[in-house]
Amino acid sequence: MTSLRLSGISACVFDAYGTLFDFASAAAQEKSALGDQWQTLSDLWRTKQLQYTWLRSLMGKHADFWQVTGDALDFAMTSLNIDDPALRDRLMSLYLKLCAYPEVKETLTQLKAQGMKLATLSNGEPKMLKAAIGNAGFADLLDAVLSAEQAGVYKPHPDVYRLATDRWGIQANQICFVSSNAWDAHAAKAFGFHVVWCNRFGQVPEYIPSPPDGEITTLAALPAIVAKVH
Ligand code: 2OP
Repeated sequence: MTSLRLSGISACVFDAYGTLFDFASAAAQEKSALGDQWQTLSDLWRTKQLQYTWLRSLMGKHADFWQVTGDALDFAMTSLNIDDPALRDRLMSLYLKLCAYPEVKETLTQLKAQGMKLATLSNGEPKMLKAAIGNAGFADLLDAVLSAEQAGVYKPHPDVYRLATDRWGIQANQICFVSSNAWDAHAAKAFGFHVVWCNRFGQVPEYIPSPPDGEITTLAALPAIVAKVH
């Protein structure tokens, strides 16, 4: 249990893939077709998806997250010698209906009751995010769905995090940003948010600048950490 307390918070902003949604749930639902390769495919798919966002941003060659997610899946399937267009289509469709982590809806409900503005801030393009949020049943709990598409560049570029301060016209230090992706948490801290890293995967801390303010293992810990008043 963390002793972290963050006050003066007006909004809680959540990363989507890995934080609200379990990206491995797509390949996990195709275990019958993938066999014991499903986790390997899922891991390679995710790794390449993120690499391609970073490479495209640094190259100045932006494409939306649906394109990048499909390209990364093609790399992963080709690497594992899986030639199955129907399976590819099913996996991409499942990415629109990823399982939300079990504590997400209740945590958002509690934060809403505390008077917090709530948003997701993600690399995902708007249709992908709308589909996953709708499927998970918490669209009514979010005040905003913020997509890197609005910035034209991917995380960790500061223009993506600026979407949140611009959305509400508030200061970065009035926002608590939460991500399970440690690199995303560091970048958000560098931008100026208060940041909580939801270390779902038991990772060791990153060796890069701007560490997060604290670490939790489930979003359920968040309502006790954030407070509106100083
Ligand atoms: C997201 O932006 C980093 O993929 C993660 O939702």
